[in-house]
Amino acid sequence: MNNKTLATLFTVLCSFLFANTFAQQTHINVIPQPNNIIQGKDHFIINPKTVITCSSEQISKNVSILSSSLKENTGLELKTKKNAGAKNSIHLKLNPVLKPEAYHITIDKKGIVCEASSNVGMFYAVQTLLQSIKPTDGKYAINCMIIEDSPQYQWRGFMLDDSRHFFGKEVVKQILDVMAYLKMNRFHMHLTDENGWRVEIKKYPKLTEIGAEGNWSDRNAPRKFYTQDDIREIIAYAAERHIMVIPEIDMPGHASAASRAYPEISGGGTGRWEGFTFHPAKETTYQFIDDVMTEIATLFPAPYIHIGGDEVHYGNKVWFTDPLIQQFIKDNNLKNEIGLEHYFVRRACDIVNSKGKTMIGWDEIIASGVTPDKAITMWWRHDKPKQLTTALNKGFSIIMTPRIPCYFDFVQDSTQQIGRRWGGKFNPINEVYTFPDDINSLIKNNQSQIMGMQASTWTERIADTKRLYYMIFPRLAAIAEDAWTNQTRKDYSSFENNIPDFLKYLDKKGINYFNPFDKKTTPEPWGPTKADVIAEG
Ligand code: ACM
Repeated sequence: MNNKTLATLFTVLCSFLFANTFAQQTHINVIPQPNNIIQGKDHFIINPKTVITCSSEQISKNVSILSSSLKENTGLELKTKKNAGAKNSIHLKLNPVLKPEAYHITIDKKGIVCEASSNVGMFYAVQTLLQSIKPTDGKYAINCMIIEDSPQYQWRGFMLDDSRHFFGKEVVKQILDVMAYLKMNRFHMHLTDENGWRVEIKKYPKLTEIGAEGNWSDRNAPRKFYTQDDIREIIAYAAERHIMVIPEIDMPGHASAASRAYPEISGGGTGRWEGFTFHPAKETTYQFIDDVMTEIATLFPAPYIHIGGDEVHYGNKVWFTDPLIQQFIKDNNLKNEIGLEHYFVRRACDIVNSKGKTMIGWDEIIASGVTPDKAITMWWRHDKPKQLTTALNKGFSIIMTPRIPCYFDFVQDSTQQIGRRWGGKFNPINEVYTFPDDINSLIKNNQSQIMGMQASTWTERIADTKRLYYMIFPRLAAIAEDAWTNQTRKDYSSFENNIPDFLKYLDKKGINYFNPFDKKTTPEPWGPTKADVIAEG
């Protein structure tokens, strides 16, 4: 046999062996879909003798997470052992080469090895593993494969508006559990708005004594808010799940609750928009904001504080006539009321930065003169794609949460009666899933500025937990996969096949949802209040 024939034989042999051991890329029953999977032949069976081992203290927290979740999901109580490399083991192995959120899982007939360089990467490996282990004929078999996974985007977020209606820490914890299951990592708390100020500020007790009274449905509802201890509890709970909590204190608009508590810093507003703005021409306002930010910056360890900055024009009519404000515009060469709004946002940004934090603002802030080294923006106005491209051209880092398809106060099905639509459009799960396909052309040259994406849930028409969950789920899974999985790996039919298991998981947690496969099983909850109206826009 000459060398050439030998080489050919070797190649054929190798490809035969490889094909028998590992098949090509495929999709598995995990949300979000991992980015790289090589399927093998055969499977590993987890049995009562399987042990969990760990190579390093640095990632050992995940041993108890894995063993307790396995017990809960399968009833299997696995022993944990120090020594690595035992047969019939699930071994958690520190691999310093991997990026913090990345993980590898290798499953062969003898056992499972999960690798990560940090607790968060290992936590994600454990989530993938837990979702992959499904009983077949009473056995917990898992196919041999290699998974190499890491997220596409760093910001995989969810926002809850606790001002219009207040949901409280037990609901928040349930949402954080589901976010962790979906490898989501940013929880944005919209804490202040017209209907309630929902976070305790020690220096200004009336914010919660007066400002926390009422909600969107009932002006006289008993006051509800998070104490600073509640917030610390939420932050600690989120941190265990590798989720950062970002506070939003909305200004200079959406300030009505603060205005009710401290009328002396109200910038007025008329009719429905009474007290909608902070007073932009009083130094006492900026001192108030500085004081609030001092407490917020201390309370929340996140490197960001969101200052809102949206929709000021809804309620700034008084700015056009208030002599103090008009004089302030003249004295500071601000040209007009829009110049004043921009001035306010720049000062808010300076205050946030002075506390060692980066400011986040809704997409209105990009016109204010704040700079991309000091502020980040959330693009929300889907009907204004120019806001997105201008922000990109100015160099801003951007989190994408356009109303269509990322607002979960929009209905998710044509049969639903309560919730928003926009020119007849709404946000069904398949359209949430294809995001951001239809704006790829806008972002493709500036991909590195896209931090990620977020589902945002405003709660004017969501008065209770049952309806809240009905609006969030199962769509949250679609956003999670948009943010984690590369577009080349996304596949709606495989995602759709994975939803029933996600619904089972929600069932087990007692969480309500809309069932896109069988609408009759999950009728639209009709809340108890006048919040139940159909809304356009
Ligand atoms: C917004 O929806 N007003 C940010």
